[in-house]
Parts: sequence; structure tokens; C-alpha cells
Amino acid sequence: VNLNKAKFVISAPDIRQLPEDAGIEVAFAGRSNAGKSSALNTLTLQKSLARTSKTPGRTQLINVFEVEEGMRLVDLPGYGFAKVPLEMKKKWQKALGEYLEKRESLKGLVVLMDIRHPLKDLDHNLIEWAVDSNLPVLALLTKSDKLSQGKASAEVLKVKKALQVLGGDIKVVAFSSLKKTGANQATQIICDWLTA
Ligand code: GTP
Ligand code: MG
Repeated sequence: VNLNKAKFVISAPDIRQLPEDAGIEVAFAGRSNAGKSSALNTLTLQKSLARTSKTPGRTQLINVFEVEEGMRLVDLPGYGFAKVPLEMKKKWQKALGEYLEKRESLKGLVVLMDIRHPLKDLDHNLIEWAVDSNLPVLALLTKSDKLSQGKASAEVLKVKKALQVLGGDIKVVAFSSLKKTGANQATQIICDWLTA
């Protein structure tokens, strides 16, 4: 597979509007502003496939991209952002929860966390849930360009150690959309999931 063949399919407000639950999906989840949409654009080599923004809470819908027939990438709404009206938050967090719980075609979860403050409670909960659900996890430590290489590597080790206790299939990679750090590694892992 070639991730740069990804094409936009739909922005769905809830799971009922998603494409048929067949084939394989890899979803991108993480706190608001963690860099999910940017990572999607970097990995698909498309500048504006997914919409990015300086304002947290940009992605409020489940955005689906098709790489090939039956192989999809999914940009999920971010969690953990306080400054949105409660009703709105409830609505899209519900969509996120339903997607994670019910989507049969979900075969791999990319969890994106800012390398400067990874593993917040919600991140940890999500990864724990994925391990319990036998879902492989790729933890992408984003915006690694904000740290020196040494500090970034140290952070990767720290996160690996913290997640080791959970068991399960968890990979940790330092990532930068700006500098393409970790892009080849991430692409390899995601393509393996898509073609398994
Ligand atoms: P929501 O859709 O709101 O949940 O956010 P998101 O996780 O999709 O984040 P998005 O990709 O929109 O990026 C948020 C902000 O972080 C933007 O201002 C990006 O330019 C910036 N950003 C994303 N990736 C990187 C990176 O690798 N390096 C740096 N320096 N900034 C980044
Ligand atoms: Mg987004």
C-alpha cells in the first residue's frame, strides 16, 4: 500500500454515517491540538488532506480517508479540550467513544501525544483500553522538533517504560510533521496493519 493514495471519503458526525464497517481501519486519536491532522497530512504526503488548526478542537467530526478499497485512515475528534461548550463536547466525545467501542474494522490505533507532555490521564486510559481490546498501538510523540534529539530520545524511552507494564503491542516513535521525523517508521507500522 501507498498512503499517499489516500482520498477523503466523508466527515461523519456519528458512527451511523460512516462507510460500511468492513475492511481495515487505522484511527488517529489524541488530545486536541496533539497534531493528529498534521500527522495524517505528513504520512499521506498531502498538504491539506486533513484540516489542521492552531485552535484546539478543530476536528469535531470523524473524518475518513480511503487509501485503497477496504483500507481506511480515520482522523478522530480530539479529547481533553476544556474550552468548548459542554453540549458540543458531549456530542463529539460520544462519537469518539462509540467509534472506538463499536467499530469492527478498527485494527490499529495511533495515539498522538505532544512529546513535551505525553501520557496524560486520558491518553493513558485510551492506551489501556486499546491493550485490553487487543488493538495494537502506535504512540506517536509529536512535535519532536520542539526538543533536542537527546531530549526527544529520552522521552521516547520514558514513555516506553511507562507503557511496558501494560503488556500488549505498543510501539513508541518520536514524530515531527515539520521535519518528517519518524515518518518512515510510522508509515511502515501503519501499512503493516492495513495489509495484515
Ligand atoms: P484537533 O483537530 O483540534 O484535535 O487538533 P489536531 O490534533 O488535529 O492538531 P493539528 O494537526 O491541527 O495541529 C495543531 C497545531 O500544532 C497546529 O498549529 C500545527 O501546526 C501544530 N503542529 C502539528 N504538528 C507539529 C509538529 O510536528 N511540529 C510543530 N512544531 N508543530 C506542529
Ligand atoms: Mg485535527
